[in-house]
Amino acid sequence: MRRYLRIVVLCLACGFCSLLYAFSQLAVSLEEGAGGGGGKPQAAAASWLAGGGRGGARGVGSVGPAAHSGRSDRYGLNVQPIQRMHLAVVACGERLEETVTMLKSAIIFSIRPLQFHIFAEDQLHDSFKGILDSWSFLQTFNYSLYPITFPSENAVEWKKLFKPCASQRLFLPLILKEVDSLLYVDTDILFLRPVDDIWSLLKKFNSTQIAAMAPEHEEPRIGWYNRFARHPYYGKTGVNSGVMLMNMTRMRRKYFKNDMTTVRLRWGDILMPLLKKYKLNITWGDQDLLNIIFFHNPESLFVFPCQWNYRPDHCIYGSNCQEAEEEGIFILHGNRGVYHDDKQPAFRAIYEALRNCSFKDNNIRSLLKPLELELQKTVHTYCGKIYKIFIKQLTKSIQDRYDRPPKER
Ligand SMILES: *[C@@H]1O[C@H](CO)[C@@H](O)[C@H](O)[C@H]1NC(C)=O
Ligand SMILES: *[C@@H]1O[C@H](CO)[C@@H](O)[C@H](O)[C@H]1NC(C)=O
Ligand SMILES: *[C@@H]1O[C@H](CO)[C@@H](O)[C@H](O)[C@H]1NC(C)=O
Ligand SMILES: *[C@@H]1O[C@H](CO)[C@@H](O)[C@H](O)[C@H]1NC(C)=O
Ligand SMILES: *[C@@H]1O[C@H](CO)[C@@H](O)[C@H](O)[C@H]1NC(C)=O
Repeated sequence: MRRYLRIVVLCLACGFCSLLYAFSQLAVSLEEGAGGGGGKPQAAAASWLAGGGRGGARGVGSVGPAAHSGRSDRYGLNVQPIQRMHLAVVACGERLEETVTMLKSAIIFSIRPLQFHIFAEDQLHDSFKGILDSWSFLQTFNYSLYPITFPSENAVEWKKLFKPCASQRLFLPLILKEVDSLLYVDTDILFLRPVDDIWSLLKKFNSTQIAAMAPEHEEPRIGWYNRFARHPYYGKTGVNSGVMLMNMTRMRRKYFKNDMTTVRLRWGDILMPLLKKYKLNITWGDQDLLNIIFFHNPESLFVFPCQWNYRPDHCIYGSNCQEAEEEGIFILHGNRGVYHDDKQPAFRAIYEALRNCSFKDNNIRSLLKPLELELQKTVHTYCGKIYKIFIKQLTKSIQDRYDRPPKER
């Protein structure tokens, strides 16, 4: 009787397995049908995961010559209406020109439409509106302006923290409730690649990652956090929050481990207790708070390489961002005011070239020649030594954006 039962169970199991197999074969053939029969299904799935997509294999969806395939594949995927890329910035004080130049660099190189979220002090609103409305003929972006706002009970405390209103960024997931994902950047950022490129990293997040930032330093011997910080920080050298890519849906949902209570806290509940606890020990304001949060929740952070947040620190102490020298500089971060003084003339030259160029010169390429001459003059400075990388990067980005046949755009 027992043996008989065992045989029945075995048969059932076998039947179940073959059923599963039949289904998986069916799924595979469906997938191949959709993919035009090209390639193994595994490979197709993998390239999808890697953000590549099957546009190339399909033939119909793919656009343009092989030279552009990395880019065009992404567009083969867009079956639904094109999703906008959301970019947020917080501008206070004298940051109008810098912010506008940052937005311009995003518009110049990006391919998909952009939605800007500009948080600014009230006296800057009219200027932003005037300038951005004058670019509206481009039809590649739209924008919203917001006042600086803090949770009312602690508004004063928040405003005092670090530079005026820099901590606004911590509240973006709570203010922009309808926005799924967002790229936050400081005002002193310049895009040298399309925003599309960094935006595509969102799809590379694993299931626990909610945000992405670059390390504060590559070289621990000159890192700030590992030598001076009086609070926990992420990884070996901490992270820099000047370029922060966020899946805010996930940030709003997550319960964060912390060193204040044994229960996990939501984003909206963790910030003020954290500030209260570490107020006397933090130096770089909200960036320090982010470092503390990701110290306790390291599985939630996607760390991208330094060329997505390239700062003077990466060139003044020698070469401290190998990836940039091999692959290019994607996002420039002129912190310490280097766009406005003479300390890093290479950074300043790039800033001024982008600031000066107008959308109305319908040839963006015209910024390259004078910039190359300008940068050559800086070759004796630390960061000027890599001026060829700057030129190569800008040339490539302009070609990718403007030299493609119109149907690809
Ligand atoms: C920008 O465009 C998107 C998509 O068309 C739309 O949902 C959004 O409301 C627009 N925003 C503004 C400020 O016009
Ligand atoms: C703040 O720094 C002091 C001095 O290094 C240290 O003793 C203290 O534990 C720190 N406070 C917190 C909350 O980590
Ligand atoms: C953000 O995360 C949510 C929840 O996991 C997901 O549905 C959404 O697609 C993600 N957004 C992007 C742009 O990947
Ligand atoms: C996601 O990646 C992070 C960083 O590499 C890692 O710590 C975490 O365990 C990963 N999560 C999963 C679910 O694999
Ligand atoms: C930008 O314009 C300013 C003032 O009009 C000029 O002095 C400067 O040389 C220009 N710089 C570049 C790089 O075009």
